[in-house]
Amino acid sequence: MTHISLRELLRELLGPGAWSRVEIVGDIAIIKKPFGAPAGEGYRRAAEEILRRVPHVKSVWLAVTPVEGAHKVRQYEHLAGERRSETVYREHGCSFRLDITKAFISPRLSYEHLRLAKLVREGEVVVNMFAGVGISSIVIAKKAKPRLVHSIDINEEAYRYMVENIRLNRVEGRVIPHLGDAAAVVRERLVGVAERVLMPLPALALEYLPYALLALKGRGFLHVFLHVRSREEAERLVRERLEREGRSGRILGSREVRSVGPRLEQVVVDVEVE
Ligand SMILES: C[S@@+](CC[C@H](N)C(=O)[O-])C[C@H]1O[C@@H](n2cnc3c(N)ncnc32)[C@H](O)[C@@H]1O
Repeated sequence: MTHISLRELLRELLGPGAWSRVEIVGDIAIIKKPFGAPAGEGYRRAAEEILRRVPHVKSVWLAVTPVEGAHKVRQYEHLAGERRSETVYREHGCSFRLDITKAFISPRLSYEHLRLAKLVREGEVVVNMFAGVGISSIVIAKKAKPRLVHSIDINEEAYRYMVENIRLNRVEGRVIPHLGDAAAVVRERLVGVAERVLMPLPALALEYLPYALLALKGRGFLHVFLHVRSREEAERLVRERLEREGRSGRILGSREVRSVGPRLEQVVVDVEVE
């Protein structure tokens, strides 16, 4: 047993691909159960082994549902270690306090956060319409030189952590938190302010595109996240939605951010709106 790697052991206990279903967020390990599969004893054994073999992990949880609802959170069961769901997650030299049961988190978005930050030009105003605990907004403020990042979320818990994370990363006055529905916040406070708008919520991105356009100061850039079968499909959907709004846009590119299901990808489309 001592010679077997953790990866192999998890495969033995939980079946093929088990390692790719383990996510580490700060000092918490999350095991994602395949949808519909029974939660057998194998998960507890796997959790004990993760605790024993990965020294910085203090708590292990089983994700029993996909992310769901407007707040995009999962249901969890505690498996082993400290019964604590709050942690500090680090990404690109920034720290984020969050509770995995109360706000959305995916370490698999890490590359995309940095990619977006590298696109931001000096002096830009950015609106992040679906900001969660503020990760992308804060990485942009730290890694680029925007004038302001307006950071919106409708989930009160995510907003509370966003406010704390702004302080933790010393970007007060540069990242402005807003609590509420992105459409309402844009309409009431952010009309015509931005050079760039992020829309990292596939379920609402197309429906809320008119509000992203409303937030732009005329021309500007949109980053639209969608769940689709291909990049071509994503680009077509964005082009059609812009046409319906009577706007023309140049698709600068698109990229597969992560796989989100069988034959379903999260794709981000970068658009320059005329
Ligand atoms: C996929 S998560 C955000 C991911 C985050 N940008 C990141 O990179 O970690 C989507 C977020 O949108 C928020 N949300 C859902 N509906 C919303 C709405 N109508 N207006 C603003 N935020 C909303 C959810 O609470 C959730 O935090």
